[in-house]
Amino acid sequence: MDARTATRAPPTPVQTIHALPDGTRVQLSFLGSDDRDDFMAGFASLSRRTRYLRFFTAMAELPAAVADRLLDTDLDNHVAIAARLVGRDGRIEPMIVGVARYHRRQCGNRNAVAEPAAAVVDALQGRGLGRLLLRAIARYARAHGVEQFRAYALADNQRIRKILRASNGVLVDTDWPVLVYDVDIAASRSKPEKNSVGR
Ligand SMILES: CC(C)(COP(=O)(O)OP(=O)(O)OC[C@H]1O[C@@H](n2cnc3c(N)ncnc32)[C@H](O)[C@@H]1OP(=O)(O)O)[C@@H](O)C(=O)NCCC(=O)NCCS
Repeated sequence: MDARTATRAPPTPVQTIHALPDGTRVQLSFLGSDDRDDFMAGFASLSRRTRYLRFFTAMAELPAAVADRLLDTDLDNHVAIAARLVGRDGRIEPMIVGVARYHRRQCGNRNAVAEPAAAVVDALQGRGLGRLLLRAIARYARAHGVEQFRAYALADNQRIRKILRASNGVLVDTDWPVLVYDVDIAASRSKPEKNSVGR
């Protein structure tokens, strides 16, 4: 069985379809090396500002080695969930329009801390996709033993800081201009997916 379609501890976002508050439908699925072309198309459509906020550097192009690492997921220590638009006719558009991921970090004997990251294409920002993706990755992480997200955000990234505060994130360190937040995801309630509309 393909590892990307293997059934793990529920809940898993394997090709689930969701509606954003404005009715836009997206499909969520695990991201892996097979998605390279669709992932690169999504990266190409990110503005310079979004790339900077995501990668903390200008990132005019995505180096192949970085793309390799971002696509080298394993459904446990490095997990990424991708979103694609669903057309009116139900067709899934190939380009990836948003990704949320976590990398588990080894802290002594503990591997219950992970670093999250997310990006949504500019045309869809502010419409609830980031929130959907971050909830999905947090839920998956929690189901796979992650208790805490350690998140890094640029100080002028008001949107992600708002999301982190809304998730009860605590500012634990500053390495200007990078702020470090801890989010206790084990404590956060696992809300049902209100806007899940099918597989
Ligand atoms: C950060 C990012 C992923 C968020 O995705 P998004 O789709 O734009 O965000 P959403 O539409 O889901 O958020 C919508 C609103 O809900 C709020 N929201 C999100 N999660 C929330 C939560 N758990 N509780 C309450 N409010 C929440 C947000 O604050 C936002 O409010 P705003 O419209 O006033 O800014 C996206 O903006 C992006 O790609 N930014 C550039 C890259 C980046 O900054 N990545 C983060 C660092 S790795």
